[in-house]
Amino acid sequence: MCGIVGYSGKRQAVPLILEGLRRLEYRGYDSAGVAVADRGVLQRCRAAGKLANLEALLKKSPLNGVVALGHTRWATHGKPSQENAHPHVDCTGEIVVVHNGIIENYIEIKERLARAGHQFSSETDTEAVAHLIEEKLKGLRGPTASGAGFNEPLIFEAVRLALNEVKGAYALAVLWSKAPGVLIAAKTASPLIIGLGEGENFLASDVPAFLSTTRKAVFMEDGEMAVLKAEGCRFFSLAGKKIEKVPVTVQWDRTMAEKGGYRHFMLKEIHEQPTACEDTLRGRFFPLRDGVLERETGLDKTTLKGFRQFHVIACGTAYHAALVGKYWLEPMTGLPVHVETASEFRYRESTVGPNDLVITISQSGETADTLAAVRQAKEKGAKVLSICNTLGSAIPRAADYNLYTHCGPELGVASTKAFIGQLAALAVFSLHAAVARGTLSETDARQLVDELVRLPSDLRQVLKLDAQILELAKKFQKKEHFLFIGRHVNYPIALEGALKLKEISYVHAEGYAAGEMKHGPIALIDENVCVVAIATRSRTYDKMASNCQEAKARGAQVIALVTEGDGSMPGADFQIRMPVVPELLSPIVNIVPLQLLAYHIADLRGCDVDQPRNLAKSVTVE
Ligand code: AGP
Repeated sequence: MCGIVGYSGKRQAVPLILEGLRRLEYRGYDSAGVAVADRGVLQRCRAAGKLANLEALLKKSPLNGVVALGHTRWATHGKPSQENAHPHVDCTGEIVVVHNGIIENYIEIKERLARAGHQFSSETDTEAVAHLIEEKLKGLRGPTASGAGFNEPLIFEAVRLALNEVKGAYALAVLWSKAPGVLIAAKTASPLIIGLGEGENFLASDVPAFLSTTRKAVFMEDGEMAVLKAEGCRFFSLAGKKIEKVPVTVQWDRTMAEKGGYRHFMLKEIHEQPTACEDTLRGRFFPLRDGVLERETGLDKTTLKGFRQFHVIACGTAYHAALVGKYWLEPMTGLPVHVETASEFRYRESTVGPNDLVITISQSGETADTLAAVRQAKEKGAKVLSICNTLGSAIPRAADYNLYTHCGPELGVASTKAFIGQLAALAVFSLHAAVARGTLSETDARQLVDELVRLPSDLRQVLKLDAQILELAKKFQKKEHFLFIGRHVNYPIALEGALKLKEISYVHAEGYAAGEMKHGPIALIDENVCVVAIATRSRTYDKMASNCQEAKARGAQVIALVTEGDGSMPGADFQIRMPVVPELLSPIVNIVPLQLLAYHIADLRGCDVDQPRNLAKSVTVE
């Protein structure tokens, strides 16, 4: 997630912007920049890498002025580099833009403007918006500049008109050298907050950026714009209608603010999952917009038709996502899908060959075993598609094709929102591959797309179970043995639920295919064991009900995930009622109560939830 900070007031702006960007570093970034307006002249400074690189440049060539915009970039479109760092400018260099989010239709906008003579210097979607604003401004003001007094409404209207052409998610701020002291802000889907000071005002992606100056904040809503100056801030709708906003006083301290008021990053990231799913799905539905994924991944129909099998390779949670992907990709494309941990794949003589596609999944893009698997697959002549959350990391750089998840940085060591993003990306790729191979009709594809776009809302509904899950965690916080069981597409969710619990609470937890119970694990069952059964509506529901009764009969306490509207699960001591979702997509929602159960048990046991013992966020060693 990028970080935006803006300031208009009476103090030198750059030190305040840099302080604000430092407070947003927790959001993760790979480049940074600042732009300052001073007596009608805009100056910009950008640097790849950490803020220290930007500060070093500013030390050599200070920028003076009392109105500025700053940005830390978490790359989504275009590699991490100085050229792609924000702020971005238009042709005249008089308009600067900083942006957090994803502009879905930026390619069409950029192509149209290039035909009209605009020159672009970056690979980003944001730069297209700067040029679009320039175009709108020209249309409003004609050949002559207007007086400063009239320029504020001009730039506001130009930004408003531009954003009415833009599709996607944005928190956006604009500065025009000819409108002294004025910042234009707009928000749809990405966060943007106004900090109200005395004779000075801020805008930022998150409150820590201005907490050292003011606790008085206005949280902008989707479809809102703001005109921010030193003396105050006015709010409008995207239709240009003036709206009233009520400021609130932020009670959080800085640490809490970085966690969005949650106790831990992990809990914050669990609650960010609807957005992670939404942003990863956003604008990627192949059947609805022909070629969109081909343009992004480089994987065209001809190439996809040439593959004879898929290998999906990953580690840990990403491996569990790969296992779910098999239940989608194999029936949808009719091709064999082999799933394997990277640490096993790389040491055996696999059948991978020139007509295979190896799909690797990794949040960090730096996992040593997965990177080694990529290199080995390529040595054997296979093509490699990387599904990754970190643009410009080692694995996507080594791969042939890239499909990024758009979850923003995941700071908790236990992977949560990245898992949801990986599932969303796998669902979209499966759709793309099946339509390209002709094994899924456009009609069926559209139906699946309709089901996918409902998932963020289903996830928001499931998150409302948090209080119920906390009560369950209190009952089971002392339990030392858990067995998670599931079948078919929810078998990997049993594995992932067990992994979540064991890695943050250090409690012994196993995930098992429920059909395997009689082949040994049932010997484990007694009054010391809690069985968590994933028994939502599915072709295997009756078998799961039997599993629950068998566990209950042997003394276990049973927690069952069931579907809203279904009868009580026989044998279950506690039931967690889940929304009705198509069976094949149920893993995306079923994992959430298991994440929350693991989180609350670990927290109640006093464990370091965000930094569990012995674990690293990225396993860059073997
Ligand atoms: C899961 O909660 C862990 N963080 C771990 O299993 C992780 O999924 C695994 O190390 C793979 O990491 P990657 O996705 O960055 O490659």
